[in-house]
Amino acid sequence: MNPSEISAPGSHLVADWQALMRTFIHPENDATRKILVKYMEQILFGLHTFLADHVGITEEVSLKKLAQRFTDTRINDQPEKKLADVITDLIENIAPHAVNVASPYFVGHMTAAIPFFMVHLKTIAAALNQNTVKLETSKVVSIIEKQVLAKIHRLIFNRRSSFYDHHVQHVETTLGSFVEDGTLANITALWVARNRLLGPRPGFAGVENDGLPAAFAAWGVKRCVVLVSRLGHYSLKKAGGLLGIGNRNVIPVDVDEHNRIDLSALQRKMDELGKSTAGTRILGVVGIAGTTETGSIDALPALATICRDRQIHFHVDAAWGGPTLMSERYRRLLDGIGLADSVSIDGHKQLYMPMSCGMVFFKDPLAMDVVAYHAGYINRPGSVDLGIKSLSGSREANSLILDSALKIMGLKGYALLIDHGIETARQFAREIKRRPLFELVTAPELNILTYRINPETDAPHKSAPSVHRRRSALERLNSINTTVQRLQRERGKSFVSRTTLYPSTAQGTGMVVLRCVIMNPLTTIGILKSILDEQTTIYRNAFSASES
Ligand SMILES: Cc1ncc(COP(=O)(O)O)c(C=O)c1O
Repeated sequence: MNPSEISAPGSHLVADWQALMRTFIHPENDATRKILVKYMEQILFGLHTFLADHVGITEEVSLKKLAQRFTDTRINDQPEKKLADVITDLIENIAPHAVNVASPYFVGHMTAAIPFFMVHLKTIAAALNQNTVKLETSKVVSIIEKQVLAKIHRLIFNRRSSFYDHHVQHVETTLGSFVEDGTLANITALWVARNRLLGPRPGFAGVENDGLPAAFAAWGVKRCVVLVSRLGHYSLKKAGGLLGIGNRNVIPVDVDEHNRIDLSALQRKMDELGKSTAGTRILGVVGIAGTTETGSIDALPALATICRDRQIHFHVDAAWGGPTLMSERYRRLLDGIGLADSVSIDGHKQLYMPMSCGMVFFKDPLAMDVVAYHAGYINRPGSVDLGIKSLSGSREANSLILDSALKIMGLKGYALLIDHGIETARQFAREIKRRPLFELVTAPELNILTYRINPETDAPHKSAPSVHRRRSALERLNSINTTVQRLQRERGKSFVSRTTLYPSTAQGTGMVVLRCVIMNPLTTIGILKSILDEQTTIYRNAFSASES
């Protein structure tokens, strides 16, 4: 087979050794190289303009119709397309149907625009293809990982310089670990907490070795629980399932009027658990620094004191709110985080890294010893192999991306992003309060707020004397908000998400609210006003007409 035949336009593609070699060494010809460079340039430098030109939030094709286009379940024997054609296809045919999370009108989730340089850094990480599970496939990258983990550890725990000098490159201690995401970070924290609680004792090698039934027998335990506010992320439930304590034993505690864990309810729950069920042990208490739905922050110092007094592992889920520590103006919101035993932070959230990067940190550099694993061919005792104490096995060099981003942005750069989000959210809250059609449901503590459409005519849901009338008024409001959110999403110009909260005024019936997460620096108050205008129009078209 002649190589030119392979690359000739419209030619029949064949998988052979020569073609394969080209994919490992360089593009097949000059034309292909030019196309690849052109697209790389677009992706690297023009991502925002490119996405703005090609995509609103997403194109108006239903998921059902899209699904019909993707029903081919066979892998072709021979190659179907050249790389350049595949890239063209991805950019022109797939990207428009993905979601343009970079749009400043996309304010519904914790995923948004990233600085363009992140794409460069991600490309370099992919090109180097280091595997940080072990030194033999990462060398300096493992060292950089230890350094960058120490930087974030210092941001959280702020221990003495001598502590960091000692541990930053210590072979046997670990300040934290990179994992895939916030879910695995939370699971890792509770994994460590479980193993420390049910550690070895005479005749018992520890829960990690001997399993839960043996651990319960050895420690005289019947049940292990984790306590967290009912706004806790569902990853904690997964941890309950995976760690064998049962996800029903991840117990939700009521929140106060600010959506923070209700401290007296927590104390009551602890006392009740202590009294009613002999043999119940509290494996951990989780404080949240930025709840997923409302962005609220639990009273971390008070939680730390409760946990210290009762000798309970105190974990802070700061997957969302952690980077607020970088803002001089707002870091006080996270006061007490340094008293935690462990802390989760996500890189792909407010550190603006590409998907995905989770991290978990431990105050005690020896805490992760209880989850150490060794293998004959790697991760030998005493080595710097980072896979020894990581839930993940093979993983990419996210530390390269984070370390470089920290250099490019500095604390001040990140602070600008954090401050913009919080302050724009506050402005938005004031705007919502000004408009009679809307009701602010949860004010922003960080950069997340919830609100709903609540036309004055529907006020009876609060004041109506009968529970039945109040409930049916609330259900009607729920249906209005659900419909408006859906219709706005389907229009494809802007996106606000929706969730259900259970405030005490709703008496057990869920209240549907619109949820806004402001993290994109290009999202302005003007854009947010236009999102409210659009919701007003959608509401009037869908409901007002039918009512008059
Ligand atoms: C507070 C909190 N914790 C944990 C997570 C889980 O993060 P991930 O989706 O990266 O697994 C989230 C995600 O939204 C979160 O908001």
